Amino acid sequence: MNAENPEVLISEEEIQARVLALAEQISADYGGEELVMVGVLKGSFIFLADLSRRLSIPRTIEFIAVSSYDNGSVASGAVRLVMDVRGNIEGKHVLIVEDIVDTGHTLKYLIRLMKSHRPASVKTAALVRKAESAEVDVTIDYLGFDIGDEWVVGYGLDYAEQNRTLPYIGFVEPTDS
Ligand code: PRP
Repeated sequence: MNAENPEVLISEEEIQARVLALAEQISADYGGEELVMVGVLKGSFIFLADLSRRLSIPRTIEFIAVSSYDNGSVASGAVRLVMDVRGNIEGKHVLIVEDIVDTGHTLKYLIRLMKSHRPASVKTAALVRKAESAEVDVTIDYLGFDIGDEWVVGYGLDYAEQNRTLPYIGFVEPTDS
């Protein structure tokens, strides 16, 4: 793969235009109500930063961290909570912000977890979705782009922690190392 300079899948201009459109739609939908944006570490950090700054409604920012069980002793798709939100979200409007939805297990888990805090509402935003990889049915209320089966990097997304800060979304050929 060309780790230094991945090929462009979605350009910086396309991303910025889509993020602005999503922000305008979110601002209109919540009608001035305050939103708690919950970014899922690490990959959502750039999407969350840009999306949040383009909203015209009051908003606060929280972060959450999860990891997948991959040791074979737990059923595939199980998700482990590493760090919960710090603030009290009871009675608040929550928007979970993800960089990518692949199988959907993580987002499904997060929706259930957020609902357990008894918020006023829970909705979801994701920059990209790998529609062909879906294993569970999960609603994405605000979606940036549908993509194929490529391994994507940039705009928060990584391959082995590299390329998260690219301004565009590129694709790489994973190696088996
Ligand atoms: C990515 C992404 C989601 C999850 C989606 O996180 O941010 O949280 O995978 O996968 P799923 O739909 O199959 O559950 P990743 O594990 O790459 O961590 P990172 O955000 O820290 O890079």
